[in-house]
Amino acid sequence: MLSNAQVLTILGLSVLQVMGVIDPSLAKTPQMGWNSWNKYQCNVNETVIVNTANFMVSSGLKDLGYQYINIDDCWSLHQRDNSTQRIVPDPEKFPNGIKGVADKVHALGLKLGIYSDAGTNTCAGYPGSYGYEQIDAQAFSDWGVDYLKYDNCNNLGLAGNASISSKRYKRMGDALKNVSRPIFFSLCSWGQDDVWDWGRSVGGQSWRMSGDISDHWSSVVSIINQEVPIANISAPGGWNDMDMLEVGVYDQMTITEYTSHFSIWAAMKSPMILGNDITNMTSDIKNIITNKEVIAVSQDSLGESVKQRWVKGDTHLFAGPLSGQAYVALFLNEGNSTVTMTGTWSDVFNNKHANKQKSIAVRDLWAHTDLGSFRAAVSVDVEAHGVRMLRFNQQA
Ligand code: GLA
Repeated sequence: MLSNAQVLTILGLSVLQVMGVIDPSLAKTPQMGWNSWNKYQCNVNETVIVNTANFMVSSGLKDLGYQYINIDDCWSLHQRDNSTQRIVPDPEKFPNGIKGVADKVHALGLKLGIYSDAGTNTCAGYPGSYGYEQIDAQAFSDWGVDYLKYDNCNNLGLAGNASISSKRYKRMGDALKNVSRPIFFSLCSWGQDDVWDWGRSVGGQSWRMSGDISDHWSSVVSIINQEVPIANISAPGGWNDMDMLEVGVYDQMTITEYTSHFSIWAAMKSPMILGNDITNMTSDIKNIITNKEVIAVSQDSLGESVKQRWVKGDTHLFAGPLSGQAYVALFLNEGNSTVTMTGTWSDVFNNKHANKQKSIAVRDLWAHTDLGSFRAAVSVDVEAHGVRMLRFNQQA
């Protein structure tokens, strides 16, 4: 007689999938949502989280796919509970506990994220989960948490190569598998020890591939350049995390720069986690983060990042496939004046045998306009620090 496990294996299901513990649908496309850190740092509390969640719904952002509301560092007291050993939510910041916030966020049809650290303390000095992984995973599950961002500070020097770092992260990955609630596991190890090589194997669904982003164009450019050589790693189930979006956080970039930032994060399949105060944003910022055509590229079911086709001076051409034989190309100008850029069919489709005579319809995803049909190549003017993001519905 077959055991239950054998029956499930024959059906192509693992026991964990049936229990709902491993939910492959959690990371089919890069996660979308909001996180408290970039704007509020340690000034996070229930009011901020619940107001943001309410606005996520009333502003229509939820309907565009933004679903996680993530609490970052500084949500707890400095001491664990003496008897349960659990981390204690700060009663002043979270008078109804994390469970109380989770209930309110869930009632809006959204999901709640929390933050901890694969070390003794978080980056801001609050309790970390190292040595307490199962206790903390159980608490998060009991409270109704749907997402864990797991940082890398105060790690006892247990870093320096992939084997050591991955073991430290696997402890939490395993603990999360032992709890009943599916919890998205977002590794925040800053690209250390080539996390993109082992993030998936420790249960991660995304992993930070760089140090912290800041609200400056130079930071965006630096992260793009670090992502280029590893862009092939992102795929459904696990994503290189280029860090949270800075669009509209402190207005230290121009609208053109924020538009480029948002476009590239979408096309490179980075998680799309907003960081601005969405309850109070200008129409320019709202236009960026609500661009349905760009979000459709981010959430495309193929889940393949664009690749860099070439660099010429300050200009870069990125392109890659979308589902349904479509393609997307990004023309990026890091320079300080407008330039005309040309993408030939062999560049865009990465195919030196591309049919140069084929006439292909091209759509501009920021102008929301069909540019017409082109043969052999398409040329566009790209302003300083700007992008043009084009969609091709067929290949040459
Ligand atoms: C690290 C992370 C940031 C943020 C802070 C919080 O720097 O990389 O994203 O979570 O810690 O202290």
